[in-house]
Amino acid sequence: MSILKDKNILLGITAGIAAYKSANLVRLFIKAGASVKVVMTPASKEFVTPLTLSTLSKNPVYSTFVGESDEEKDNEVWNNHVDLGLWADIFIIAPATANTMAKMANGVCDNILLATYLSAKCPVYFAPAMDLDMYKHESTKKSFEKLSSYGNKMIPAGTGELASGLVGEGRMAEPEAIFSFIEKDILDQLPLRGKRILITAGPTYEAIDPVRFIGNHSSGKMGFEIARAAANLGAEVILVSGPTHETILSNFVSVQNVISADDMYKEVHKHFNTSDIAILSAAVADYRPKNVANQKIKKKDPTFTIELEKTKDILKSLGEIKEDQFLVGFALETNNELEHAKGKLKSKNLDLIVLNSLQDKGAGFGVSTNKVTFITSANVVIENELKSKADVAKDLMDLILKQTHA
Ligand code: CTP
Repeated sequence: MSILKDKNILLGITAGIAAYKSANLVRLFIKAGASVKVVMTPASKEFVTPLTLSTLSKNPVYSTFVGESDEEKDNEVWNNHVDLGLWADIFIIAPATANTMAKMANGVCDNILLATYLSAKCPVYFAPAMDLDMYKHESTKKSFEKLSSYGNKMIPAGTGELASGLVGEGRMAEPEAIFSFIEKDILDQLPLRGKRILITAGPTYEAIDPVRFIGNHSSGKMGFEIARAAANLGAEVILVSGPTHETILSNFVSVQNVISADDMYKEVHKHFNTSDIAILSAAVADYRPKNVANQKIKKKDPTFTIELEKTKDILKSLGEIKEDQFLVGFALETNNELEHAKGKLKSKNLDLIVLNSLQDKGAGFGVSTNKVTFITSANVVIENELKSKADVAKDLMDLILKQTHA
């Protein structure tokens, strides 16, 4: 899954021959799951048609301050550049001609693309495209410098055959290269870039015999949402999950499937010393059958007793060996919730605990909402409203970011 998924991308097209390549750029963004709108300079319409771009982007294309409403062809509408600028999460001008860059650098605003540029508050990228002598000209270099000083990011032109027939620097970077440049740039700025996060999720199943087990109702939803939230912040996530129907599609999450508490213990310990943060949200069985029958147990007697033995407490074992890792546990309680959670925070040597009370409606197993209380190692108690598990996961990651100053 691309980091550009669900992003609002505004593509600005100016009058360079490379404008035809921008149609492909629209396709790449759409394929990545982004929403795309296109704003063009009037002259760029000579190089690529608005129809192509609106068809690919599935949105109207803006090239003038005044357009026609779809409903009544005679009615003119104001194309609001401020709204466009505010809509965008990212603004990319590709191709960026020497003329447009000089205007951008000097605050000239004589078309809707330039007005949108001046209104946009989001990160701006520009991919220059021009002939080699224009590219080398002092005036063009000044534009590059000025735009960089405004915080705009240049996607350098490549070298190759140019429209003039000359060979040299000035060719707009290929759409795939522009796409990767932006993706990487956004990733590099994410607060958890370079951090490894270990997460446990779901239930564990403890075998009784080859066909039966002791399990619980955990769906794994909470842990999977935490994995998504951590990956969205740029972390490399190891998600150790017990049996669940949940799935995750992300290049940043590696799912390790386990069945029993013992499997989970071993898998977690494989990754803990290389992790920066560990969040243990799994509902691990506290007990397992002492003896597992090799064959299916036959019903003979009117009653049947299974002797259970304790499983290893994974969270506690990490608390005992942790060095610099930030360790987060969950507590599922039905009574004296705060007291029990604070007790676990201390006894398991945690940095943060997330308290779930089964007394709260909409909290707990199976549902897609949760109501949690965070308790920090300094005993600060943060109560939260009932929220979707996705929002709880974001809140948790925000708090971890604050606590670790990442
Ligand atoms: N946990 C664990 N390994 C276990 C049991 C629990 O890692 N064998 C972790 C859970 O993932 C959770 C935390 O410990 O993060 C607390 O789990 P919970 O079931 O609330 O508490 P327990 O420590 O098992 O204590 P009790 O069941 O007595 O309340």
